[in-house]
Parts: sequence; structure tokens; C-alpha cells
Amino acid sequence: MFRFERCSGAMSRRQFLQGGLALGGSLALGGPGALAQVVRDRGPFTNLKLTAKPMAFSILPGAPTNTWSYEGFVKGGPALARVGYLGPILRLPQGSYLSVDFLNALPEDTTVHWHGLDVPAIMDGHPIMAVQPGGRYNYAYRIFNRAGTYWFHPHPHMRTGYQVCQGLAGVLIVTDPEEQALALPRGDRDLLFVLQDRNFDSNNQIVYTIGPATGYLGNRMVVNGQVDAIQEVVTGVYRIRLLNGSNARMYKLEWSTGEQMVVIGCDHGLLRAPEIKPYVMLAPGERVELWVDFRGASIGSTIKLRNTMTVGGTDLLEFRVTASVNDPIQLPQTLSQIPTYQLSQAANVDNPRVITVSRVGTEWRLNDRSFEMNSVEPYEVTRRGQLEVWEFRNDVGSNLIPHPMHLHGSPFQVVERTISSYQSSYNLVREGFIDSGWKDTFILMPGERVKILTKPQTYTGRFIYHCHNLEHEDMGMMRNYDIIP
Ligand code: C2O
Ligand code: CU
Ligand code: CU
Repeated sequence: MFRFERCSGAMSRRQFLQGGLALGGSLALGGPGALAQVVRDRGPFTNLKLTAKPMAFSILPGAPTNTWSYEGFVKGGPALARVGYLGPILRLPQGSYLSVDFLNALPEDTTVHWHGLDVPAIMDGHPIMAVQPGGRYNYAYRIFNRAGTYWFHPHPHMRTGYQVCQGLAGVLIVTDPEEQALALPRGDRDLLFVLQDRNFDSNNQIVYTIGPATGYLGNRMVVNGQVDAIQEVVTGVYRIRLLNGSNARMYKLEWSTGEQMVVIGCDHGLLRAPEIKPYVMLAPGERVELWVDFRGASIGSTIKLRNTMTVGGTDLLEFRVTASVNDPIQLPQTLSQIPTYQLSQAANVDNPRVITVSRVGTEWRLNDRSFEMNSVEPYEVTRRGQLEVWEFRNDVGSNLIPHPMHLHGSPFQVVERTISSYQSSYNLVREGFIDSGWKDTFILMPGERVKILTKPQTYTGRFIYHCHNLEHEDMGMMRNYDIIP
């Protein structure tokens, strides 16, 4: 339970109004996070229309901000829920079928990639499947994934960072019977927040300028498409899903009260059991789920989610307690069943697939190779159904920086981290990794080697692995790999 700060004068009226304003007709739902829960259970078949197109949203006082955004409709039906320039926000049951008729109404090529979802290679949004301006593509697949918070975003050749920065991203929450049977907070106590950072010019337009090594870093926090986000809450327990939808910024998440964080899920849903952490690291592409207990808080008190990676720290999101309820819910001690992959059982236990991060000038590479659209190296072929160990290394060269490494095609378990240099920066983050669940993206720190175990289960075909710092990806820090029968 939290010790609460009294609400201070620090929250201006303008900030408060802004938290509420962007809610539009859904004000009654209680805040930006709650709006994300207006999602659609459409039964076993869901037919959607999705268009990527220029739009405009009010983010800062004054002129609206031009964005590139997804707009979604149920076929022949209503528009899908969105949060500001982000969306749609979908909720679909495991086992259901999704068909998305996509239209590219942007002035350049794009694709839609379903981050973390187990889909056929031709549905994965690989840059080779580029949809031209005015072009269409039918993304259709069955949802095999376990319950979790997945998302979708563009993946075109060398333009992923730019397009995501313009606003293109949506969320697909999957539910399953194991998760639904658990007594977890649900409905308007199951909230989603997408964390992003942006730079705006004096006319409120998004500015895309990138640092040569760091990628795109914005000076304003934008949460669910809003600045100075405030979420009203009651004195109950919440399930809070956080997605780092930033291009390049890595967050060290802490409560302003100094309370411990209760982590119940990561990229692919619930952990085996809750984990208590002093802080949580969240790199671009990663997700985390928290159990947040506001019981005992007094009305009017506030708590902030902060990023302490920045000097002095940055406020990301403020929770404001506005009503008191009686909530008897208890934190389940067992959350989900996850088989444990054993290193000793990997087919290549003595010969890990080594991927070394390297840098040539301002260009980042993988095993000294840049992205090649049409080829794989012999070491980039793996077998469906085979448990394999991959070892990512970030310990060659100088001026090393963290990289969030991501695999398409198959989730994995992080089984070993070895640090050989950069100890002091490592010590600031090491307790914040959530390595105990199913992952699709992990943080590879400077001086570190990380072993993951993965077993592609469903589809064969050509997938990619890359750094989820989107500017690194665009600069070539991405490679194909083949899953063969
Ligand atoms: Cu979210 Cu290939 O990435
Ligand atoms: Cu992905
Ligand atoms: Cu990188």
C-alpha cells in the first residue's frame, strides 16, 4: 500500500484540464488510461478496416498537432477506440481470427507489424512486404498468443522511426481463459498507458531530429497521446499495463513515494508469480504490468510514476485519488503457468548463436552486418520446434550504449546475464529487469552478454531480429533470419 503525498499546488489547473480534455465523449470513464479500455470483444471472427493516414490532434494548448495515425473501424460498424493520436486499442480473445483490411493513405511506403504476435511471415509487416501509397494489404491471422499486451506499428525500410514518431502505433490486448479465471482488477481498473517522448516546435508540430548514437529523444513526455497526463483513480487496486512506445528512450520507472513496484506481467502477459522491485526498467518495445494498490489513500492525494533515468527525474503520469470504494481483492500468489526452458536442453547448448552488436562510424550493426533485405547468413537459420540458445553481446568497442533487442517470430526466455565492464552504470539498472516471464524484447546493457532460449513453435518463414531503438533499426541494426521446418 502506498504512503501518499498530499496533492500540492504543483498541479496547475491547465494540467488538470488537459488530462480531462482529450477524453472527449468518454469523460465518464475517468481518465486517459480508462479510455483505453473501450475495446471490442467481437467474438471469434473480427473484421476490421485500418487506415494509416494524416490526422490532427490537440496535444498542446494552441494549434493542433499534425500526425500520421491509424484509424480503425469494425467492418460496417463503429470506429474503434483510440487514445489521442494512438490507436486503435483492441481486445481480442486467444483463438479468435482477425482480418484487417489495411489501406495506406500516407505519402510513402509502410507496413503494419504486429509486435509480439505469432503470425505467418507474410503477415508480419516485414519491410519487403511494403504497401505503397494508396495500396492495400489484408493482414489476416489467428491469435495464438497467450493473454498479454501486444502492439502494432509500421516497419518500412529505414522509415520505422520516422513513422512511429509521427504517431503510428496501436495496441492489441489478448485475453485467455487462464488469465480470465484469475481474480485480477478488470474493467475500469485495468488501465493501459503508452509512454512516449516527443519534441514539438513553437507551432506544436512534431520535430523529428535524431542524435547520431542515441536515436530520437523528445523533451516532452506524451502518455496515451497527452502531455501532463493525469489519471483519476479510486481507493482500489488497479492492473496497470505500460508499453514503452518511444523510439529510443529507456525508462527507469519508480513511484514518487519510493514504494516498491509490484510486477505481475511483462511483454507476453502474466509472470508465474508477482515480483517486488525497487524500480522497473522499460526499453522501447517492452511492456510491463503492475499491481497498484490505492487502498488507504486519502481523497485528493496523488502519486506519480517517474522516470529516474533522466537527471533529476521526469514525471510520466500522475494518479489522483478522487473517490473511495471498498475493494476486497487480494494479490494472487500464483499468476500463470510458464514452462521453464533449460539451457542444458538447447540443441546448441555448447555452440550458442552469437550476435555481437557493433558500431562503424555512426552506424550500428549485428555481427558486423547491416540489414540486407533479401538474404540470410548460414548462421541465421533456425528450426521450428527446436530449442535454441542465442547469445547477444554488447562488449566490443568503446562508448557502448544499451540496445533493446527484439525477435520477431518467437517469444523467448532470458536465462543468463553476464556483465564484464561498465559495472557502475549496470548497477543502476540491474534490479529493474523483468526476466522471469515470456519476452520478445530485452535490454542488452553496455558490457553485457545475454543468453536467451527460444523455440519457434508455429510458423516457418523469414522473420527479423533487430534493435528496437528505432533509429538503430533504421540505420541497419536489423537482420533477417529463417525458421525452417
Ligand atoms: Cu516492434 Cu520489429 O518491432
Ligand atoms: Cu516486433
Ligand atoms: Cu540499438
